[in-house]
Amino acid sequence: MSDSQSGTWSAPGRVNLIGDHTDYNGGFALPFALPLRTTVTAARRDDRTVAAGSVGHDAIEFETPGEPGAVDGWGAYVAGVAWALAESGVEVPGADLEIATDVPLGAGLSSSHSLECSVALALTGLAGLDIEATELAKIVQRVENDYVGSPTGLLDQMAILHSRAGHLSFFDARALTVEPVECDPAAAGLELLVVDSQAPHELVDGAYAERRRACEAAARRLGVETLREVDDVGAALDALADDPETQRRARHVLTENQRVLDCVELVRGGQLADIGPLLSASHASMRDDFENTVPAVDLIVETAVEAGALGARMTGGGFGGAVIALVPVERRAAVERAVTTAALGAGHPAPSYLPVVPSPGAGRDT
Ligand code: GLA
Repeated sequence: MSDSQSGTWSAPGRVNLIGDHTDYNGGFALPFALPLRTTVTAARRDDRTVAAGSVGHDAIEFETPGEPGAVDGWGAYVAGVAWALAESGVEVPGADLEIATDVPLGAGLSSSHSLECSVALALTGLAGLDIEATELAKIVQRVENDYVGSPTGLLDQMAILHSRAGHLSFFDARALTVEPVECDPAAAGLELLVVDSQAPHELVDGAYAERRRACEAAARRLGVETLREVDDVGAALDALADDPETQRRARHVLTENQRVLDCVELVRGGQLADIGPLLSASHASMRDDFENTVPAVDLIVETAVEAGALGARMTGGGFGGAVIALVPVERRAAVERAVTTAALGAGHPAPSYLPVVPSPGAGRDT
């Protein structure tokens, strides 16, 4: 069989070390790829049918290119990719897709984007195309925005498609660039620990869209296209003083951008151990100003830091999901014990723990 008749492609989940709800404001973020991946084994067909199966889900089948609304449930992420590729001019072939993933679903670790990106790579691979990562990220964004109907930004796709092993991905959402930043926690005696709260997400889609609208309203009031264009943060916040809620939303974004820049500088300077306070400040900003955290997640962050984490924050879109904590290796067991005890004591689900290292981005495996 020729190269584009069949193959295996995979894409990781991502965790965002810092910089949330900045991407659709043209700001900065510092994600990295997880060691957990979605893998698509794909074979080209002679017709226009895409048939996809995934363990634990009903099989789906549709004709390319399809249109928004034609497929729902998990299959929307697959059908949406075929549709978005066709919209951007790709002649999408029929294909048989076998999908497997170890990215936890609904934990804010971008399981849906890892599915979308792996399917996008498989379908373009079968079409004999090699689309540049940023271009592909923009196509995949249309799956979320125009097929599934969530107004999300480009953070996840850019992280998944651009990340490199051993590096954080410094994303500038205005320039649409990703710069690799070397990061070796083990060399500093540290671990990056993902704590999945297992708490059910609350109001995710509506609340995400509402936060985005608040940021856009703040930018309009300030006479700038996005909050990234704000130079004088103090003056901007003064100008929003008559609308405290909008002011709080904007304050999160404006201060978060600076925290990302500070974090990048520290990591580049070999001072990973010093970013802890920035992580914790980011969490406080989400909790108090952006108001997108939930009690189960706040308790994990607070307890992890009390038990010896250097810093911790909720990661991703929020309203539930996972925490990323920076933990000295010798404190990990104590942190896990304390967090489990606190969560159960407060009547929350038992969290699960995953030490992670910055891992490779998406690509072709075979
Ligand atoms: C979700 C979205 C991203 C980004 C984050 C918050 O993961 O998909 O575009 O907005 O939330 O940083």
